[in-house]
Amino acid sequence: MVKKKACVFISGSGTNLQSIIKSSRDYNFPIKVCLVVSNNKKAKGILFAKKFSIPYIYLNTNRQKFEKIIFQKLIEKKIDIICLAGFMKILSKKFVRNFKGNIINIHPSLLPKYKGLNTFQRVLKFNEKFTGCTVHYVNEKLDSGKIIIKRKIPINNKDNTYTLKKKVQFEEYKAYSSAIRKIFQN
Ligand code: GRF
Repeated sequence: MVKKKACVFISGSGTNLQSIIKSSRDYNFPIKVCLVVSNNKKAKGILFAKKFSIPYIYLNTNRQKFEKIIFQKLIEKKIDIICLAGFMKILSKKFVRNFKGNIINIHPSLLPKYKGLNTFQRVLKFNEKFTGCTVHYVNEKLDSGKIIIKRKIPINNKDNTYTLKKKVQFEEYKAYSSAIRKIFQN
């Protein structure tokens, strides 16, 4: 199969990146990770790029410069899809428009609930009985693009932000790969 070329944007631990890379080693998985971009030099995720010999770029500069340089690279490498995985910078409307329909993100809540940061704290504060994660297309508004896949987990009264994060992230790994498969299935 001819795989689509993906670039994964990260800022932190990169466990979703690791999981996408693992899935992509399957012959039938529709994408190949051809580039990793980080805006954080200390992002642990860079180690996964190194480990799997995937080209990576670390770039910490203002948004305009960052996007200009990265855009060139994405074109050069003929990237088909951008997967945001814990990328903490907000992309400009212009950048999103240029890659319209080809940027996806994973968010640690059941969107449209709990957009933005600190989802686990807020979910607990509001005594939610369930939470989860969502993979969605990126549009010009934060965490608001069309939903591709959600995975739900129950919350019990012993949960805290740490346990919730662990459980949600476990679902994220499955959700991200399923979403990518879903996007490219015929
Ligand atoms: C994930 O929980 C994701 O939902 C959020 O950022 C976190 C990134 O974790 N957007 P990692 O860098 O993939 O480990």
